[in-house]
Formats: sequence, structure tokens, C-alpha cells
Amino acid sequence: MAGFGRCSHAVVRGIPDSLAGGALRRSGTEGVDTARARREHEHYVRTLGAGLGLEVLELPADEGLPDCVFVEDTAVVCGDTALLSRPGALSRRGEVDATKKVLTQLGLNIVEVIDETATLDGGDILFTGKEFFVGLSDRTNQRGAEILADVFKDYAVSKVSVTGALHLKSFCTMAGPGLIAIGSSDHAQKVLTNMQEMSEHRYDKLTLPDDEAANCVYLNTPEKGHVLLHRTAEEFPESAKVFGKLRDYLLIPVANTELAKVDGGLTCCSILLNKGA
Ligand code: GLY
Repeated sequence: MAGFGRCSHAVVRGIPDSLAGGALRRSGTEGVDTARARREHEHYVRTLGAGLGLEVLELPADEGLPDCVFVEDTAVVCGDTALLSRPGALSRRGEVDATKKVLTQLGLNIVEVIDETATLDGGDILFTGKEFFVGLSDRTNQRGAEILADVFKDYAVSKVSVTGALHLKSFCTMAGPGLIAIGSSDHAQKVLTNMQEMSEHRYDKLTLPDDEAANCVYLNTPEKGHVLLHRTAEEFPESAKVFGKLRDYLLIPVANTELAKVDGGLTCCSILLNKGA
């Protein structure tokens, strides 16, 4: 697990005006405050860049792609290989081109999903440092999971059905080396049980009262050690108390009130990679 969470670069993308009316959402009609969404996003980007020292590559927003801020879904990067995704939502397929360009410029080995029967969203791919879990969801299918397993042959890849959320990582992420952050809903707990049954590895778990809060961003930086970007106490007071008990962490609350209305979590807004890997 040495090096887990170590990152040199973050790819992010701006928020188009079209997000408020055009981004996909599973439910709800509450309006998105675009100005507030941009302020929150700027804080997120500044935290990764000026705050934590990552080199941030910010792609411009594309008005024709309302969900384009959610770059995580467009690629899975592990080591020096980037698997470009084939998003399950047709309206999101065009997002991959800009990601391909920037990851190519970074010198990564690029693999594309050619099979037109496959769908794969990065938000369904959880890398624990030891293995991959692929959420089979409305966005990611069996064929997509098979292709990921073929590309990242050095690691075990297990598939887990996701219900009750957009993506696997909507309620299940890594909060540290060997530490799984998981929501409390029946859907989230069932996923965790299935993952534990399939895995040869043992993980600690950090159970959050709120599923959405279980989507957090873990980094290990040379200067600050364990760092966790997590949702704020204003948004999720009970979950913030759980985060507050983590020892030896730099905890950074990051508000995400607006993008959450269109099913975006904290991990959704970046592709993190380590060029030195
Ligand atoms: N709005 C994020 C998605 O549905 O993909």
C-alpha cells in the first residue's frame, strides 16, 4: 500500500451554464445555483492545487456537454495507463475527447474501449490499492468490467451490483490505505458485504451516516501526509462528526451543495494521477 493516495496531477473541468438545465439527474427538481456551484468548485480546485500542491490541469467547460465537470467518469488511471471510458449515458460520450487529449499530453499509455456493447463510467470503478471493484450500474455493464479487467491485468477485478445510487462511488470510496468509506443505507451496506465476500484482502471501514458523505477524496501528500476532502458539517453534521474522529489526518471540508443536486460527488470532479508512478 506504500504510495496509495500519492498524486502529482489533477485533471478537472469547468462548469458550463448548461449544467443547471441539462445535466442528468436521477431524481429531484431543485434548481442548481450555477454561481454557487462555481464557487464551490473553485474551492475544490484551489484545495487540490494551491492547497495540496498538485499540478492542476483545468479543461474548459463545453456548453454542449452539460455534465462535463464530472471528469472522473471519463477515464480510469492506474499507474501509467489510462483506460478511457465509454460512458453509459449517450449525452456524455463526447466528454471523453478532451480527457484523451490531456492524458495523452501527460504521456500516459492510452487504452480506448472499442467494443460498442461496453459501457463504463469511472464513477463505478473503485481502486483500493490492492484490487479493483467495478459497480455494475445503470452506467457500467459486464462488458465494460471485462475490458477493465483485461487492461489492468496485474490486479484482481470483482464486480458488484449497484442499486439505489448512480455509481458505486456515490456511496463507497477509499478514505485511506485499506480504509473503505461506506454509507449506511441498505444499498451501500449490501455492496460492502458483497465486496468483502469477494475479496482476499481485509479492509477497515469508516461508516458514514449519510451515503453522500461516503464519497470523499483521499490523498497522501509529501508535506501533509494523510489528507481527506470530505463534505461539510453544514451539509452532513452527523457524518462530519465521524470524519472528525480520524486521527493523523488533515481534514478538509469541501461544500458540494449544488453539484450534488445533479448526482455529483467530490470524487466526480477530478481525475487524480501520479506521474511519478
Ligand atoms: N449528472 C451526473 C450523471 O448523471 O452522470
